Amino acid sequence: MKKISIFGCTGSIGKNTIEVIKNAPQDFEVFALVARNDVKTLIKQALETKPSYVVIANEKHFPELKSALKNLKKCQVLAGEKAILEVAKIRCDLFVSAIVGAAGMLPTLAAIKAKSHIALANKESLVCAGEFLMAEAKKQKVKIIPVDSEHNAIFQIFENDNLEMIDDIILTASGGPFFASKQDPKTISIAEALKHPNWKMGAKISIDSATMMNKGLEVIEAFHLFPVAKKQIKILVHPQSILHGMVNYADGSSLAMLSLPDMKVPISHALSFPKRMKIKHQKLDLAKLQKLEFFDVDEKKFPAVKICRNALEIDGSAPAVLNAANEIAVAKFLAGEITFDKITKIVEKTLAKISHQKLSSIEEVIFFDQQARQIAAKFNS
Ligand SMILES: NC(=O)c1ccc[n+]([C@@H]2O[C@H](COP(=O)([O-])OP(=O)(O)OC[C@H]3O[C@@H](n4cnc5c(N)ncnc54)[C@H](OP(=O)(O)O)[C@@H]3O)[C@@H](O)[C@H]2O)c1
Repeated sequence: MKKISIFGCTGSIGKNTIEVIKNAPQDFEVFALVARNDVKTLIKQALETKPSYVVIANEKHFPELKSALKNLKKCQVLAGEKAILEVAKIRCDLFVSAIVGAAGMLPTLAAIKAKSHIALANKESLVCAGEFLMAEAKKQKVKIIPVDSEHNAIFQIFENDNLEMIDDIILTASGGPFFASKQDPKTISIAEALKHPNWKMGAKISIDSATMMNKGLEVIEAFHLFPVAKKQIKILVHPQSILHGMVNYADGSSLAMLSLPDMKVPISHALSFPKRMKIKHQKLDLAKLQKLEFFDVDEKKFPAVKICRNALEIDGSAPAVLNAANEIAVAKFLAGEITFDKITKIVEKTLAKISHQKLSSIEEVIFFDQQARQIAAKFNS
């Protein structure tokens, strides 16, 4: 029985993780559930999975949560950010890091320090503090198993024994809802931007996919996860989202991982690694699909990819600043305060406003994250 903690259990990744676990109750036991606001879903999940810990970030929901779970005798019900960190510090077999945004960074670091292996969906924590998280994982001998479908694909096909034989790695991108659209970005509505063609995801990553900031963040994530140079990380637009990642080797072999776009596939791989498990899934029928298309990224139309590559090149505080500014800009767009085209502009302006420096601690990451949020909050164009 693997003991699993799910941080961000009420979100898209969290719910899919619970579905996968329910598929194999003989193999998995839910140890901790953590969410922020969605107390109704959290209660339902806790009553179903009977974990040892349930934590809600927003303390105003604590009385409702506590009362609903009063019959779960072996379950500790807690609230607040401190409690989240305390529970992250308790070792489990696999910590599913599925909180959205930089809010997932400290719990993920605490889990690594506790020697829990990590199933990592929360790419923002690697974008902000990849160097520190990966160094700690190495020190604690903790495995970081990527859940992001592209990185999970690369993880499955990456040959560590042939590092010098790797030409490059390819992360595919659906291109989001506007890949082929000629719509003026100023006129894009919130509903249009949220409507991803292939994946059903949380709001923030859906907007990141629409700007293609998501793919830029994934380049930074890949840089920390895999021992390859920045220029070896390539992006290919693939609107069908069937081929998720590929490694090109010096002998002309290209190894790719394919599946239908269903996050239960990488989640089940991460949960059962190094083994595989059976899950209910639709069979991939390539004859029925008939064609898979691939295109280069139009970096003029989607400047976010270049902005992310530049931040990775600057390194130090730049990726944390980029991430924080993007979180603020996406929140502004979702609140109807700015038009779609302003998201990347705010990120660019925030990056330019800060003089970047090399970071030597997680506290410095937090300092730059906070500074960037304050600056980005002031921009509306
Ligand atoms: N969705 C996907 O298919 C997908 C694919 C690849 C990677 N990812 C990555 O996975 C992460 C989660 O994405 P998602 O789509 O699942 O997001 P989501 O649906 O918005 O869910 C986010 C989860 O995080 C919780 N949360 C947010 N802030 C929190 C805080 N301060 N403290 C504790 N919990 C907090 C939310 O709780 P409440 O709902 O209770 O507020 C929710 O459970 C992101 O980093 C994303 O980039 C997602």
